[in-house]
Amino acid sequence: MNPQHSRPDRPLSINVVLATCNTDKVRELQPMLDKVSPLLRVWSLNDLSLRPEIEETEPTLEGNARLKAEAVFSLVESRFSWLIVLADDTGLEVDYLEGAPGVRSARFAPVPEGSSPTYEENVTHLMKLMSGCIKRTARFRTIIAMKGRVPTSEGKAASIEETAEGRIDGSITSERIGKGGFGYDPVFMPKGMNLTFAQISMEEKNRISHRALAVAEAAGRIRDILVRYGISSTETETGTLP
Ligand code: IMP
Repeated sequence: MNPQHSRPDRPLSINVVLATCNTDKVRELQPMLDKVSPLLRVWSLNDLSLRPEIEETEPTLEGNARLKAEAVFSLVESRFSWLIVLADDTGLEVDYLEGAPGVRSARFAPVPEGSSPTYEENVTHLMKLMSGCIKRTARFRTIIAMKGRVPTSEGKAASIEETAEGRIDGSITSERIGKGGFGYDPVFMPKGMNLTFAQISMEEKNRISHRALAVAEAAGRIRDILVRYGISSTETETGTLP
């Protein structure tokens, strides 16, 4: 069978595949992408019935985000004519710890081989390493890697490889404050605020966070790609991003 026949896309749709099964991440990205262009069709890995196990083996957030984007691109590229895969990686970088936990943010606390530390264990480990330390500056950084294939105005295929970044500077508190959020939120206080990420509403966090900034930049990049290749010709057509 000609694989084109089983492809679910229309000729002029650009399929945006989010390399995640995390429904919160999908919910955060979808409205931003909807504003970019009506030509975009957004798919999560759940929508495509995929659950790939991709080991994050690179030493940087950029490397891991690219590795995930490439792995998912290889998995789904035969299903779509035109597509852009988006994969993200996030880390907390503490200056006193020379950028740690960084890429190891999810796997920071030492635990027995084969198991993963809980958020609680990771925060406790961080508190222990920073006990009594004066220099407490830190930041969250999210990298979104994009890998895709879009049509040029001559009807050829152009390869897309880009990254977008979002970051928020702040400091690590000397104890947990607040009950909301997840991960390192109870000990991260954004610069210029007197509250930790665990004390502010989800709406506010989603407005200022590293991830929100990376998502906004990625959406802007996609808009630029559509304009660059004449897929959407004007800014009005592609909508206005916040
Ligand atoms: P991921 O790349 O989004 O899976 O994030 C890796 C790890 O960074 C998570 O397991 C959390 O420990 C931490 N992390 C990511 N984003 C946040 C956040 O917004 N607040 C607190 N911790 C986070």
